Amino acid sequence: MDIIDGLVGEHAVLLTLIDQIEQLSLHTPNLDELKRAVSLFGVPLRQHADIEDNVLFPAVDTQLDLAISCHQEHREIHAINRQFQRCASLVEGRTLLLEALARERKHFLREETELFPLIRKVLKKEQLDSLGRIWAQKRKIQLTALTEDNGPLAPF
Ligand SMILES: [Fe+2]
Ligand SMILES: [Fe+2]
Repeated sequence: MDIIDGLVGEHAVLLTLIDQIEQLSLHTPNLDELKRAVSLFGVPLRQHADIEDNVLFPAVDTQLDLAISCHQEHREIHAINRQFQRCASLVEGRTLLLEALARERKHFLREETELFPLIRKVLKKEQLDSLGRIWAQKRKIQLTALTEDNGPLAPF
């Protein structure tokens, strides 16, 4: 398992949370409730972006402008989320939040379809695996136990 496998897996979970936040934003009349939910969601979202910004992108940003552009998108999304947290009106807050969620979906898709495939071409498998071990350490996952050859998988 390499770092891109890990990051794409995180996208799947984050996208589920984005769907949930979007539904809440459309139905709740309570701005504070929405802010609390977005604040909780912001924790794994920032951790994910931090791993990309500090572990993956530095390995390729001298070769790939797209990595720099994705880093910039992180900053823009965080800025909209900060603006949302300062907002006092539900209508304005909902507009800002829906803008942030749309950008997050688009950003994940751009990484999955453009940036990550390019990174797989630029970096060697050993580099991707090595970065995957750093990702696992940061996520407190015992990757070695998962990748040891324990024989054929048992059927379900
Ligand atoms: Fe990202
Ligand atoms: Fe990502």
